[in-house]
Amino acid sequence: MRCLPLLLIIAFVFFVAAEMAEGKIEFLTRCPKCSADNPKEADGSYKDLCTKCRYSLAVYPEDKGPDKVDTASFPAEMQESYKLFAARCSKCHTLARPINTRKSAAEWKTYVIKMVRKPGSGITLDVGLKVLQFLEYTQKQKK
Ligand code: HEC
Repeated sequence: MRCLPLLLIIAFVFFVAAEMAEGKIEFLTRCPKCSADNPKEADGSYKDLCTKCRYSLAVYPEDKGPDKVDTASFPAEMQESYKLFAARCSKCHTLARPINTRKSAAEWKTYVIKMVRKPGSGITLDVGLKVLQFLEYTQKQKK
């Protein structure tokens, strides 16, 4: 039990480091989609969605990864679903964001359904289901 204070200190240091990493979100100062400016607010913060076209202006680490998937070896059906995914899931952020995000099948389902329901997402249930199958398929390929 003598090491308990040390453990607490280590836990605290990790907690602070995680908080700091989280606070380091970058924001784009100009919308890459419609070119509207994203000026710094009086309190030093930035908007995370473009006020004009609602594009996501927060930069995720995943946005900086590869932005395409080589589907040459995929079954024809998955190649078709990739096209839907690439067209629909790049409307409000980079395609790299979903490509480089790992989620469980259940989490993807929740997210895609959320997008299907979002007004203006342009994703129908039919397309959403195909995207979901594609995400599950590629994630299995990566394992
Ligand atoms: C209507 C705009 C819109 C569309 C369309 C959209 N997204 Fe998003 N997405 C966002 C926004 C805004 C965020 C930032 C975080 C948030 O608000 O949830 C985000 C964040 C994300 C994230 C990171 C956050 C997380 O939950 O892990 C992933 C992954 C993602 N989107 C995947 C997708 C996929 C896959 C599709 C296609 C089915 C898609 N997005 C379509 C707006 C959209």
